[in-house]
Amino acid sequence: MSETRKLDGFAQREPRVSQTRPLDSKLPSVGTTIFTVMSKLAADEDAINLSQGYPDFDGPQRLLERVGHYLTNGYNQYPPMAGIEPLRQGIADKVEDLYGAKVDAETEVTVTSGATEALFCAITSVIRPGDEAIAFDPCYDSYEPAVTLSGGVCRHVPLTPPHFKVDWNRVEDALGPKTRLILINTPHNPTGAVWDAADIENLRRVVADRDIYIVADEVYEHIVFDGRDHLSLVRYPDLFARSFVVSSFGKTYHTTGWKVGYCVAPRPLSAEFRCVHQFVTFTTATPLQYGLADFLRECPEHHRDLAAFYQAKRDLFCDLLRDSRFALTPSPGTFFQLVDYGRISNEHDADLARRWTVEAKVASIPVSVFYEDPPDQRFLRFCFAKDDATLERAAEILCAL
Ligand SMILES: Cc1ncc(COP(=O)(O)O)c(C=O)c1O
Repeated sequence: MSETRKLDGFAQREPRVSQTRPLDSKLPSVGTTIFTVMSKLAADEDAINLSQGYPDFDGPQRLLERVGHYLTNGYNQYPPMAGIEPLRQGIADKVEDLYGAKVDAETEVTVTSGATEALFCAITSVIRPGDEAIAFDPCYDSYEPAVTLSGGVCRHVPLTPPHFKVDWNRVEDALGPKTRLILINTPHNPTGAVWDAADIENLRRVVADRDIYIVADEVYEHIVFDGRDHLSLVRYPDLFARSFVVSSFGKTYHTTGWKVGYCVAPRPLSAEFRCVHQFVTFTTATPLQYGLADFLRECPEHHRDLAAFYQAKRDLFCDLLRDSRFALTPSPGTFFQLVDYGRISNEHDADLARRWTVEAKVASIPVSVFYEDPPDQRFLRFCFAKDDATLERAAEILCAL
């Protein structure tokens, strides 16, 4: 009761704006993320939400049961800072099974509160004031703020459509004495592009003999199509020696709202990573970790079958859009499909995405927001991690545009 009163009193004092001390933002150009904006607009407008990257179906029943079990059986206090041992071991076993790499669960695997936290901790571990990081545009939106907050600067290298390949000559042009980090993301959000062996060779070439670290955002590691392999950086000992490899259970188990991810990095890098992690979140929800550890051990077929599951959705969505006026770019991975709407409209993509959410009742993400300096192109991103019926309803509308 007294606690409530105290809080009420505090809340009542807040509106006296004249006494509020102004705060100079460290991130002056950052607003609310486009994902939040478009999802809210989709909800307000009762539109089909193909914007934000999350499924409209639930995680596997067995996983939900295991988490429920731990939640109701006393597993609700702080777990160890780096994550519970069975989950770290499960991650290490999966890495060995899929990528043939032995990593030490004790010292090289850290469980985090989503990949977002892992990315922040990895970037913060490396970047010091004045350092530069190379990022590829279109670029996932959490990287640059983390670089900026550490006093660093992002150098943006555009990917080349329609395949959104890395132009390695441009990477070399962007490299300089201050370059401390390269931020890679394969499979890539928002384009679905997937790195191949030549990319790995080029990465190897550009970092050789340079004091450069790598953050590899591999949250879509299990969603690679058409028989291709995911080229995780843990496969390559020389590259892994300087890498933080980040993944997310949210994407793999259809549980994005749980925000559980992890970072695999060599021992000295993991040690520094944990220094930051222990003061960012310290650790991650206990019952989720135990439930995930059980499911990972009991049901490895879930992540092994995930590519086929999403490939069927990609093929369905692309098939349904075949008679539309959109041009589809190749999407060899992730659960995103880019469409070029140039044959339908010349409008700016952000305006069009908003208008179609309101008028056509299908929400998407404008791709220009992923660029520092948006080129003159007309792409929207649709998320196909949706029930088939949802994709069918959306496609019917999109084909009429
Ligand atoms: C490329 C990429 N990295 C990181 C994340 C964040 O993952 P998490 O929800 O586990 O923080 C996302 C989520 O959309 C993503 O697309």
